[in-house]
Amino acid sequence: TAAIAALRDGHLVGLPTETVYGLAANALNAVAVARIFEAKKRPHFDPLIVHIGNRSDVDLVAREVPPVAEVFMNAFWPGPLTLVLPKQPAIPDLVTSGLDSVAIRMPQHPVALELLQALDFPLAAPSANPFGYVSPTTRQHVLDQLANEVALVLEGGSCSVGVESTILSFSEGQPMVLRLGGISLEALEAVHGRPIPTQLSSSQPHAPGQLASHYAPARAIRLVAHGEECPAPGAPFLRFYQKEQPEWSLSADGTTGSAATRLFGVLRSLDEEPDGPEVWIEKAPEAGLGRAINDRLLRAAHRA
Ligand code: TXA
Ligand code: MG
Repeated sequence: TAAIAALRDGHLVGLPTETVYGLAANALNAVAVARIFEAKKRPHFDPLIVHIGNRSDVDLVAREVPPVAEVFMNAFWPGPLTLVLPKQPAIPDLVTSGLDSVAIRMPQHPVALELLQALDFPLAAPSANPFGYVSPTTRQHVLDQLANEVALVLEGGSCSVGVESTILSFSEGQPMVLRLGGISLEALEAVHGRPIPTQLSSSQPHAPGQLASHYAPARAIRLVAHGEECPAPGAPFLRFYQKEQPEWSLSADGTTGSAATRLFGVLRSLDEEPDGPEVWIEKAPEAGLGRAINDRLLRAAHRA
């Protein structure tokens, strides 16, 4: 297909995944990977995730797989979980920002999986948005901002998860969550059988993309605790869920899953009126996918 040819030639392809759309390049080709950073205006200190289509491809990317990491692969791959493992020398330093570790995931979306399985190299792919902006969850979102940077954007519908993958690292063999995402902390802990620490700090981020201001629309946003009323009478107020006013609800049915799939689309739609009055948004309940949603909302609302 055209996507395979473009990627072989070192070009960028918009790739649907179950989390968000990615901006993909041949992960083994440093020139192609450099185009990703240029297209996104992404700082070089922020490393990329390498995507694979087969379990056996892990060994091309990671030098070593601790047994505890295999447990998580078995439980959650393909799916929205990224594992940080020791890197193979074949992975260019640009991909990992010079770190000795590499982030790897096997996506679940059939279009992504099929493409990865047809290629003989893995794909480096960050979310397909300009650095610091809201991640894309439809093909149109990618075209709106990066049409001139990509050879093509594959159609994959609306992303079924809607927030990025959860990132899990292993230092001294122990798992640690670096980014909350599509696999909940509860689900990880159920598999691990023990609590898993999180390291989500934004001043000295372990996952360098975890900056305080990220996912930021131009429109000003203020947050309200879950279950609280808006403190500014008459201001636009997007609730987590209200049956009577679905158009002013983040979730279409009261679940955090629905809120996650709609989150980035809602943030983008606020920017159709970038100078409009500030919008108040009620946070999700702080459990399950709600944690990842609240993490994104905090960063979206952050003003430097
Ligand atoms: O769901 C996702 O993960 C999406 C889709 C396209 O797969 N991708 C995505 O990529 O969210 P991106 O570039 O927006 O976020 C990748 C994050 C970065 O913020 C980076 O800090 C972290 O992964 N990361 C990458 N390599 C790392 C490493 N070696 N150690 C720690 N964090 C790493
Ligand atoms: Mg991103």
